[in-house]
Amino acid sequence: MNEHLARGWDEAAAGYEQYFVPRFRPWVEAAVAQLGDLPPGPILVPCCGTFPELDLLLDQFPHREIVGIDLSAGMVRLARERAGGRDLVSVVEGDASTLDPRWLRTCGAVVSVFGLQQLPEPEHAIGSWYDALHSEGRLSVVYWPSVTEETGPFSLIKDLLHPEAPADADADVDADAAAAAGDPAAALGGAVDRDELLRFPITYTGAAEFFEAYAHSGPMRATAIARGEAFVEELRKRFLERAPEGEWTHHPAARLITATGR
Ligand SMILES: C[S@@+](CC[C@H](N)C(=O)[O-])C[C@H]1O[C@@H](n2cnc3c(N)ncnc32)[C@H](O)[C@@H]1O
Repeated sequence: MNEHLARGWDEAAAGYEQYFVPRFRPWVEAAVAQLGDLPPGPILVPCCGTFPELDLLLDQFPHREIVGIDLSAGMVRLARERAGGRDLVSVVEGDASTLDPRWLRTCGAVVSVFGLQQLPEPEHAIGSWYDALHSEGRLSVVYWPSVTEETGPFSLIKDLLHPEAPADADADVDADAAAAAGDPAAALGGAVDRDELLRFPITYTGAAEFFEAYAHSGPMRATAIARGEAFVEELRKRFLERAPEGEWTHHPAARLITATGR
């Protein structure tokens, strides 16, 4: 599954940077804004993708070591381009589900946006991210829960992919693993400071534009690899039949969880 996921994100990387990164910016800003004053130590960014967190982190923490981690070589290439050879910034290609033990209790912060829902064991992953924190270090995680909206393009895609058995969504490579596996906040126990839903508007020129971006430059790229282009074409037809005409705005809710290291 990791192989399809990584390849999907390799193929999606450039389009994701162009199409989704600007649209998802408010959630990235919210995640980084949670950090505040930090104890010493590096800032880790698991599932950094093209690393949109970086510019905001550099504004607040220009003298920190900042390390992005991502499974996809294509994403890592773009993240390194964004890092632009800065001495204190590096990007590691690898699985961020379990952090390298060398980070244990050494980090000033761990911040991750829109990665957790992709991981097969999100409770384990968020626990590992928390364990990397220095005392008083900050964890800030934003991810898509299984239900993000009542109506809108995300819920329509989900209905079409999983019409009868949403609980079995993890059978799919673009599935919402975090939701299927339980509550990630449970792994943090009493350390959680904030746990809330963040909604921001996103506007698309139309349903066809959205579907094109989602299928080629987003999480469904891995599904297309696993199931083939004919499957995606059929899905596109059914999506457009049920989608509204014209410009489309929705307000999907992502979950923010923050915690402080002990
Ligand atoms: C939706 S993108 C989000 C990227 C970025 N944080 C952002 O907000 O734009 C999700 C990223 O998670 C990465 N990812 C998925 N599973 C991963 C894993 N097990 N370890 C590291 N990265 C992973 C994907 O390669 C992809 O780049």
